[in-house]
Amino acid sequence: MARIIGTSTDSEQRTQCLKGKDEYNNFSEDLGSLLSNTIVHGDVMEVLKSVPDESFHLTFTSPPYYNARPYSTFENYETYLSFLEDFFRVLHSKTKEGRFFVLNTSPVIEARLSRQHASKRYPIPFDLHPRIQKHGWEYIDDIIWVKPEYSAKNRVGGFAQHRKPLGYKPNIVTEYLFVYRKQTDKLIDWNIRSYPKDVVDRSKVREDYETTNVWHINPTHNKHHPAVFPEELCKRVIRYYSMVGDLVFDPFGGSGVLARMASVEGRSFFLTERNGDYFQYMKNTLERKLFEDVNFQTLSEFESRVISGE
Ligand SMILES: C[S@@+](CC[C@H](N)C(=O)[O-])C[C@H]1O[C@@H](n2cnc3c(N)ncnc32)[C@H](O)[C@@H]1O
Repeated sequence: MARIIGTSTDSEQRTQCLKGKDEYNNFSEDLGSLLSNTIVHGDVMEVLKSVPDESFHLTFTSPPYYNARPYSTFENYETYLSFLEDFFRVLHSKTKEGRFFVLNTSPVIEARLSRQHASKRYPIPFDLHPRIQKHGWEYIDDIIWVKPEYSAKNRVGGFAQHRKPLGYKPNIVTEYLFVYRKQTDKLIDWNIRSYPKDVVDRSKVREDYETTNVWHINPTHNKHHPAVFPEELCKRVIRYYSMVGDLVFDPFGGSGVLARMASVEGRSFFLTERNGDYFQYMKNTLERKLFEDVNFQTLSEFESRVISGE
């Protein structure tokens, strides 16, 4: 079991983050402010065409897990992998030197058509890994997100009855967070030294922190979206891999949990979401929940904004 170590409370940390947030946002690049606290309704690959290079400090996302949910219908597994590979390539150019990309995925099972067919399990994180590295992302860590067994689909029931070897199928209680850094010969210290001292001070992780790569976090359910991030997962990734005032990107925005947590943690956010219902859900809920204005834009509104620079 992972140990949690810390010296100050969550709310003390939050107050530190929010103090002087605007001040630091003024310090950051003008281009960043065009993207800041913006959610665009559109396909991520279309939206990224208008995003300036080297815009993002951190990306944390959970893409569709092949065709596991109704919001994606890829023709086949190879088409799915190629779509994401293309995304990893473009994301690399939109990310600042030496900064992080944290990808949450897990293998998925395609249900069998009938008792005469076998089910198929796709090892998504492991198939994606070489496609990510190929485009200039350096592998840093793999974090295992563990959920309670009661939240997992029961696969072991058959085995519990027959107890025959070869027919063993464990209940899946894990997902992966693969952590990558945009390749550079500069050390992490170089990234840290690019910030004013007070920003580094305010960004310090003073509260409890996780000491291992095994994170026990309960899943969250939301009746408006079938696959939402738990707030705790976002909070840890944001605190460990970005500084106060940074721009955090979620290309597969869904219900907008990352936007909410970025704002709570004193960071700015940029999200894209292709599905109109989920975009509308974020519009209905986020503005009430955040302390700041959010720019909700269509793809063409966003494109015009970038061109006009206002
Ligand atoms: C796994 S969910 C992400 C949920 C999100 N992490 C949350 O906390 O709510 C993936 C999301 O990506 C969206 N999506 C799928 N393909 C997309 C694309 N090409 N561009 C933008 N969004 C896309 C889906 O509509 C879905 O909401």
